[in-house]
Amino acid sequence: MLADLALPLLRCLDPETAHRLTIRALSAGLGPSAGGWTPDARLGQSLFGLDFPHPVGIAAGFDKDAEAFAGALKLGAAFVEVGTMTPRPQPGNPRPRLFRLPEDGAVINRNGFNNSGLEAGAARLGQRDRSAGIVGANVGANKGVETPESDYAAGVRAMAPLADYITINVSSPNTPGLRDLQAPGPLRDLLRAAKAARTEVAGEGGPALLLKIAPDLEDAQLEGIVGVVLEEKIDGMIVSNTTIARPGSLKGDRKGETGGLSGVPLFEPSTAILAKAYRLTDGKIPLIGAGGIDSGAAAYTKIKAGASLVQLYTALIYKGPGLVRRIAEELGTLLERDGCSSVTEAVGVEAGATP
Ligand code: FNR
Repeated sequence: MLADLALPLLRCLDPETAHRLTIRALSAGLGPSAGGWTPDARLGQSLFGLDFPHPVGIAAGFDKDAEAFAGALKLGAAFVEVGTMTPRPQPGNPRPRLFRLPEDGAVINRNGFNNSGLEAGAARLGQRDRSAGIVGANVGANKGVETPESDYAAGVRAMAPLADYITINVSSPNTPGLRDLQAPGPLRDLLRAAKAARTEVAGEGGPALLLKIAPDLEDAQLEGIVGVVLEEKIDGMIVSNTTIARPGSLKGDRKGETGGLSGVPLFEPSTAILAKAYRLTDGKIPLIGAGGIDSGAAAYTKIKAGASLVQLYTALIYKGPGLVRRIAEELGTLLERDGCSSVTEAVGVEAGATP
């Protein structure tokens, strides 16, 4: 509750400073705790060889440098995805690069993978108590590299011993050329390099590899991606990253800023592409739904559109850290209302009906 009370204060600060303070507070153990809370048993699932106590996690970008995941798990998140981390540290784009659109429940960011690099992230993850919860690592390429697949392979090599799953992020709009890696040829090379790196480190085992995609894809592009993902036996997909589109409904003063838009206006387009991905994968691999989730009802819609798990970030800025646990609780109530004895029964039930 105290953390939710701090929200109006944080909102008086520029968004990046507010975020930095939040990360510091969580990493110092000052965040609120969901201690003693046991999620409704019907929310639990085993996926990628991991036991998720409920489906709600924190998306990449919140804890880029793996500083605050322990505090974020204590809030009640079922899992936290740290990163995006790149092999070498990089400063990202000049500030300001993060903008609030409060009227829209949205933000625009053009951070550009500001992060302290794989080595620093690995050192922090190496200290973690693996029994405290599930931590995924999201990896990317440094700006301007000529062979991005080597950067992703380096990310997988560094993170395979440390993370519970690894996300290959080819969908940030803020690194020039990155999203071109979603084209079938480059994507296949990249995923093969990532799998080879995992085998080098972990043999036939190792963490699941997931691919995170953009919401701004034509049907044919999505079909190409899903084809490669299934052929290469990638374990799952995250749908989706931020959008470069600017819906006409946006009201916030900063709607013209360059970068990726996230939050409420992303909900509909990202849910539509999630449902398409579910139909194309035919339920063969788990999907993680992200984009504009700000309530239990929104999380439930993602699940019914095809998500086995969901992630959020932007709504935490507006509704505070207590939101993660509230969403999980609301999901339990919604499943009970609909007579589902397990969340898996709801996954994809409306994928066919989602436009
Ligand atoms: C992000 N996101 C993101 N994704 C990613 O794969 N790597 C990253 O480094 C970041 N960084 C990042 C920074 C900021 C400030 C935001 C708001 C978002 C995207 C994020 O993980 C998620 O996919 C989208 O934001 C959609 O979810 P929400 O925010 O609408 O709940």
